[in-house]
Amino acid sequence: MKIALFSAHRFDRQSFDTANAALAEPHDIHYIEARLDAHSAILASDCSAVCAFVNDRVDAATLNILAGQGTRLIALRSAGFNHVDLPAAARLGLVVARVPAYSPDAIAEHTVAMILSLNRKIHKAYARGREGNFALDGLLGFDLRGRTVGIVGTGKIGLNVARIMRGFDCTVIAHDPFPDQTGLAEVGGTYVDWPELLERSDIISLHCPLTPATHHLVDATAIAAMKPDVMLINTSRGGVVDSRALIEGLKSGQLGHVGLDVYEEEGDLFFTDLSDQAIQDDIFARLLTFPNVLVTGHQAFFTREALSAIADTTLANVTAFERSGAALHPVSVEKLA
Ligand code: NAI
Repeated sequence: MKIALFSAHRFDRQSFDTANAALAEPHDIHYIEARLDAHSAILASDCSAVCAFVNDRVDAATLNILAGQGTRLIALRSAGFNHVDLPAAARLGLVVARVPAYSPDAIAEHTVAMILSLNRKIHKAYARGREGNFALDGLLGFDLRGRTVGIVGTGKIGLNVARIMRGFDCTVIAHDPFPDQTGLAEVGGTYVDWPELLERSDIISLHCPLTPATHHLVDATAIAAMKPDVMLINTSRGGVVDSRALIEGLKSGQLGHVGLDVYEEEGDLFFTDLSDQAIQDDIFARLLTFPNVLVTGHQAFFTREALSAIADTTLANVTAFERSGAALHPVSVEKLA
């Protein structure tokens, strides 16, 4: 099948070429560096499948153009699908597929790396050490043992973070409107309601999808209900957190540490080298100025194992669709709820 793969980076080419070469009947992959939107969609003309990533704009306008050009499958190379207008895709008869789980370990391990780095100020120590400064002032951390970690969303990633944090002898509490009692009990955590999670947690880590219900779940009210000096980590989706409220929480000291792998408006920022440009997003630029904020550019998924699993599953979705008209891992409108 002819596939237009948008937002293609060198690492995508490597993983997809390797996975494709291993197939009995390889696909015809066209790598396109541009992000997918209504302007770039024309680059996919005569491609039956379009492969999109997290910051591609798969809205109704884009889907209309793609469908008009003969595309029949949107194969997301991500787990999240909040960037796709699913009702529009359904109306146009487009099948949307995703990679439901490629390496929950990758994201969970990055989450824990952020917790450890922020707590023990590894990012600062690294920069200081390069300058020959080995003073300890400003690098004071805290013992993780005995601290309470609040997990928001106990799906594949959230449960992995819970398991790792239990290894540090932390108390794990969690909130999820669709609890997995067995899964959480197995890793030694307990469910609490949302207000209790906010009130008790020393560290709060977000692992829910971005849906209308979770948009700005962490807002000024939620931040005010947290423990003073709390650490907040977001490796889920930027829109789950109100960035303006974050800034106020950091200024007042209510938020002691913030780790962000995702940001509401990351589409114009992440996956790009902007080091020789002025950052135009003032909210993001302000967040970068806080010494207790650590930002990584949607990097949590970025391991060899995850890249290879993403390529394998995406191509398996395409192969299944080519053979039967149905993808292996379809996304349906109901999933939006
Ligand atoms: P999953 O679908 O296995 O689990 C998500 C959990 O969130 C479910 O148990 C669901 O019931 C729960 N949830 C839904 N609404 C909630 C709410 N209002 N409050 C608390 N929990 C709620 O998803 P998985 O694989 O664990 O991924 C979680 C999120 O991580 C994804 O949706 C995606 O946005 C993000 N992600 C980020 C990556 C990165 O590189 N930073 C890579 C992959 C995923």
